[in-house]
Parts: sequence; structure tokens; C-alpha cells
Amino acid sequence: MNQKREQFSSKLGFVLAGAGSAVGIGNLVGFPVMAIKNGGGAFLIAYTFFILFICLPIMYAEVALGRNVGKGPLGVFTRFSDDKLIWRWAGYLGVLTPFMISVFYLVVSVWLLVYFFCSISGGLNHLAMNGSFEGIVSSPTIFLYVFVVVMIIVLILFGGVKSGIERVSKLLMPLLFVILVGLVVFVLTQDGADKGVKYYLIPDFGKLNASVINAALSQAFFSLSLGMGCMITYGSYLSKSASVPSASNAIALADTSVAFIAGLLVLPALFLFNTQLTPDQLADSSVSIIFSILPKIFVGLEPNLGYVGASSIAAIFFLLMFLAAITSLVSLVEVPVAAFMDKKSVSRNRTLMLIGVALLLCSLLTSTSFGLLDWTTQLTEYAGRTRSLFDLIEDLFYLTILPLNGLLLCLLILSKRKQIRIEAMLNEDRNPISGFFTRYSIFSLTYLIPIILTFILFNTVLSTYLGLTILG
Ligand code: PHE
Repeated sequence: MNQKREQFSSKLGFVLAGAGSAVGIGNLVGFPVMAIKNGGGAFLIAYTFFILFICLPIMYAEVALGRNVGKGPLGVFTRFSDDKLIWRWAGYLGVLTPFMISVFYLVVSVWLLVYFFCSISGGLNHLAMNGSFEGIVSSPTIFLYVFVVVMIIVLILFGGVKSGIERVSKLLMPLLFVILVGLVVFVLTQDGADKGVKYYLIPDFGKLNASVINAALSQAFFSLSLGMGCMITYGSYLSKSASVPSASNAIALADTSVAFIAGLLVLPALFLFNTQLTPDQLADSSVSIIFSILPKIFVGLEPNLGYVGASSIAAIFFLLMFLAAITSLVSLVEVPVAAFMDKKSVSRNRTLMLIGVALLLCSLLTSTSFGLLDWTTQLTEYAGRTRSLFDLIEDLFYLTILPLNGLLLCLLILSKRKQIRIEAMLNEDRNPISGFFTRYSIFSLTYLIPIILTFILFNTVLSTYLGLTILG
């Protein structure tokens, strides 16, 4: 297509869309749960350190490369591939990964929507019963919800960059922030909330072992939507006059603030409304926290607020999570959409039909991993565990290929230093502090970060597929 590439209308539009991508289930649940289990304030410090010194440089690189090449990950890797197959494959992987993660993320978002409807229509008690989550995820009505969520994503993306992605982000991000702050104020003004706040903020450095540090880094990486091509693709819609470092800083700041504030909501709530709960009882996966524990917490509000009050708070919370998930999903699906449009010169609408159908089919199939179909529920077995299709996608794409994509990008920058000249792409900010940080970023992208990502990858492969642990 010879048309000019669409752009966000302003730097603010880009920042809100980027924040929309970054703020998601990871911030609202993943982060607070990890913090509570791993030393509260100590985890917070480790997490912030990783955001600043590892993730931010990668974000700079992703946005800058996307902006300079004017394409998503496939375009970026192809441009510098020198016709080497390995780099082109890296580009294809950069498009396949967000598609597969969107399938996995979509299934969880569907449950959020079900929980929202169920709480708003008086079913909170039912949600809080043991076994109710298992019942919901294994019922065929889930197919209807999958269809609805796919339609929402496709409709938003039909609008394109400015009137789709940017408009929705401009509307939803402030709304989300208001709901979140409202809920925090509500929780913090309840008697006894300070116990959770103390637990959250007072550092317990004794809990910081190597595996916690690994988890903090993976969480930071996922939370900023890195390794997924989203920031490269959104970067390709950023105007040439905007500064990449300052726009990226704003996204990282918004993302980290939301994660931090979500901690002020979830942790005190856990202690406040469910007094029997101790941090050690929290399961490893954030999914089981959201869907099994949270409804019980909301039911705990009933004596004070009545059933309608408790159900309303639950509904608002699930809505908040769902909205956050939608803007993340939009960014994930935009990556294959943009790649297809660039590569095949097909219109956005036709591309969306095709990718929408693929997304629908893959998500429908994946949503059967919870008992609806035997073969997807018990798809395979490794490291001594039975894994469903959903688990396999999570292990392969989220745990393994995500850091691999980050690593491949760093290796591209390193091995094609002369052509890419990342320093030229980033040297827009002239003030001394950001100048220093930009120089640090260039150094760490080429030397420090690839080593760390290789280590994480190695550790993940050993523990996920072979059941071996080399870290704590
Ligand atoms: N950052 C999102 C979250 O925190 C998840 C996500 C990852 C979205 C990668 C897009 C790309 O939940």
C-alpha cells in the first residue's frame, strides 16, 4: 500500500495507547500478588530497579526501532536482516508471539467479563462458592463470551490507529484510573486497612532470593508489554518529532504507578475482608487469586455494605480489570494486523476479518482447555505435570518466547550496530540526566541485558520443561 502510515495524533495519544497496552491484568493482580508473597517493599524495590535499568532501555529500543523503520517487528527484523534467514524468522516470531499471547490473554479476559456480568446480576454468592470457577470455565456458554470479546477487539481495531486505538485508550485509561483510585480510597478508609498497607510497604529483604528476583524481572518485562512487538508497532505510529525516551518514560511511569496503586487496593483488601487468609496461602498463579479468592473477599463486604453494595463493588472491580485487559488485547492483536497489512498490502478491514476469524477460532479452542474437551484439557505432559492447551501456550509463549524475543532484539542491535545506530535514534533528549541515562541504555542493551535475558531463558527452560531448578 502506498498510503502514508497512520500516526497517533500527538505524543499524549501515543503515551495513553502505550499505557493502555502496558496496564493490564499483570498490574492489577500479578504485581500485588507477587509483592505480597515476596517480601512486600523489598519486592517493590527490586521491581523498580528492573523497570529502570533493564526494561526501560529495551522499551527505548523497541519504540525507537519501530519509529525509525516505520514498521512492526517483522518489518524491523527484515530491514536489518541482510537476507539472513535467522533474522527473518525472528521477525515472524515477533508477530506470532503477540497473536498467541492474545489468545491466552483473551481467555482470561473472557472470564473477567463473565464475572462482571455475574456480580452485576446478583450472582456474587454463587461466584464465591467453592468449585464455581471450575463450573464457569467448563460451561459451553463461555463460547458466547469469547465471541463477544473478539468482536469488541475487532471493532476497536476497525477504527485504525487514531479513531480506534487512540480514541479507546484516551477514554478508558483515565476511566480506569478513576475507578482504581475510587476503590483504593474505599478500601483504605476501612478499619484495619493499615495492616495490609504495612505488609505491602515494609520491606522484608529475607524473602528476596534468586527465584524471586527472576520473577520480578519477568513481571516487569511482561508488565511493560516488552518482547511482544507492541511497543515496536506503536512506535511506528509515533511522529518523528516526539522524543522516544521521554514518551517511553511516561508509559513506564504510568504502568508502574498503576501497579503500585493496585497493591494498595488488593493487599489491604485481602487482609481486611478475609481474615483467615495468610500470605502463604496465596497460590502461585494470579489467575486463581482473581477468580477463586476475590469473590470471597467481596462477599466479606456484605455485613457492612449489604449484598447489593458488595455486588456493586465486585462488579466495578471486574469491570476495571476487563477494561484494562481490552486495551492490552488491542495492542497485542494490532501487531499481526499491522504486519499483515505491511507485508501483503491489504486493507485494514480485510486484514481484520482474516485475523479476527483466526483469533476467534484459536480462542474458542483454547477456552476448551478447562474441561470442555478432554484432549485440549490434557494435551501433553512434561516436567511431571499434565499441561492443557492453555498451559502450553502460557509456557511456550509467555514464559519462554517472551524473553527470547527481547534477547533477539538486543542481539540484532548488537550485531547490526553500524546500520542500526541506536545511539542516533535515542539522542534526542539534551538534558544531562536523560543524556546519561540514554548512554547507559545503549551500553546495557548491547552488553548487560542480553546476558541477563539469556540467563532467565536458560533458567525458565530448565524449570518449565525439565523440572530442574537452578535458582533458589
Ligand atoms: N502488559 C500487560 C499486563 O500487564 C500484558 C501485555 C503484555 C499486553 C504484552 C501486551 C503485550 O497485563
